[in-house]
Amino acid sequence: MYVFLLLKSLVDALPLMLLAEMMHSAVVRAAPGVVNNAVDWGFSGAMLSVPRSSIAATSVGHLALFAGGKLQNGTSTDIVDIFDRKTNKWTTARLSEARSEISAGSVAGRYALFAGGFDNSFKPMTLVDVYDAKSGQWSQIRLGTARAAPRMLDLGNRTAIVGGLSGDLQYLSNAVDYVDAKLGVISVVLESRYPQLGVAVSDHVGGIGLYTSGYENIQPGHRFNDFEAANRTTVFTAQGTAVGFNGGAQFPFPRWGASGAAANGVFVVGGGHVFSNGDEELTTTTDRVDVYHTATGKWSNTALKMSVARDYPLAQAVGNYVVFVSGTQLSKDFDILDTRTSRFVDTSEHRPALHTLRSDAAAATVDGCLLVIAGGSVYGGRNKTASVEMFDACSGL
Ligand SMILES: *[C@@H]1O[C@H](CO)[C@@H](O)[C@H](O)[C@H]1NC(C)=O
Ligand SMILES: *[C@@H]1O[C@H](CO)[C@@H](O)[C@H](O)[C@H]1NC(C)=O
Ligand SMILES: *[C@@H]1O[C@H](CO)[C@@H](O)[C@H](O)[C@H]1NC(C)=O
Ligand SMILES: *[C@@H]1O[C@H](CO)[C@@H](O)[C@H](O)[C@H]1NC(C)=O
Repeated sequence: MYVFLLLKSLVDALPLMLLAEMMHSAVVRAAPGVVNNAVDWGFSGAMLSVPRSSIAATSVGHLALFAGGKLQNGTSTDIVDIFDRKTNKWTTARLSEARSEISAGSVAGRYALFAGGFDNSFKPMTLVDVYDAKSGQWSQIRLGTARAAPRMLDLGNRTAIVGGLSGDLQYLSNAVDYVDAKLGVISVVLESRYPQLGVAVSDHVGGIGLYTSGYENIQPGHRFNDFEAANRTTVFTAQGTAVGFNGGAQFPFPRWGASGAAANGVFVVGGGHVFSNGDEELTTTTDRVDVYHTATGKWSNTALKMSVARDYPLAQAVGNYVVFVSGTQLSKDFDILDTRTSRFVDTSEHRPALHTLRSDAAAATVDGCLLVIAGGSVYGGRNKTASVEMFDACSGL
């Protein structure tokens, strides 16, 4: 049992391993088009400099950055592809070390952060590569403790880098590093009973973020880990230079593999999987979407549904919308939730869709309106792709 449980958590860290068998080439669907009267989604394509998956992606300034990832031969790369929305040009750079399971985010609207990861011998790292969008310079800072796949909450002038895989017996980390606008780092520990590897959703304008869902180790410190779907929600808030966290409303439907994004003070967490009825080997993927309102501090009573069940979907805020796409299921279609109404946009006539069906892709949204989806695994997980698809909602917002 414990061997399987360990594997289960590795799979959460490295979803690609599971995906290989799950994708097939799909029927060609409608090209991206008009969602409704309010939004036009222009489309353009591009290519990364190197095909790869498991890329760490973020946006800062007018840039989208796609860092590292796994190459076709399975090794990690240090390559960074950078798209500048102002010049419409792509350039490349390099991380200071090639690695996998990097977490990406930003702080102070200026710095892109590429935090932690596994080195080539699978050791968690403290390294954070920092790109300054103002000067174009790279530098490095360090996490307080080494970990891979930490989660990042951009709270405006502070960013919280939360949890991750620690590589010791406890395995899931309770560490939090706050990075400030001068790249100072303060390391603290989440005062929670069980270490958790959750979903991070943040609103850098409101200075608020949620760490919720995912799974927790209910036997920390024991020889063998025991992982369970988590319902604990931690709310991070930043005001001026102060930053802290509090317990929040419990996640209504604990599960693994969900993703989330925030717009308009509305936090949206969708997809994921549960293990059926105590049978650890049967998983059910869900189409469920849960909505949290910062105004009330509560989750909605009624869950919403996507058009398909998705595991490890991409979730991105685009203007007032939260877009879910991809995941391990066979769908190129977008599900688009309007955070003003907490309803999915009716896309029965024209549904934006990916041209290339892919899993384990990366996404970043530039200037809040240009959704860039890059790389991932294609052809039944056998091949990595360099393909980039860009959906431009900027003119309609
Ligand atoms: C994987 O491919 C990269 C790029 O082609 C190459 O530099 C690297 O040596 C390869 N690694 C292995 C283990 O084959
Ligand atoms: C939340 O999780 C805790 C710990 O696993 C459990 O005791 C509690 O019943 C859960 N609450 C809900 C509402 O699921
Ligand atoms: C962030 O820092 C800038 C520069 O110091 C300041 O003008 C701004 O008010 C700060 N924002 C918040 C939300 O504290
Ligand atoms: C997949 O990758 C292999 C190895 O690089 C290549 O030979 C093959 O043509 C690729 N398949 C497709 C369908 O692109």
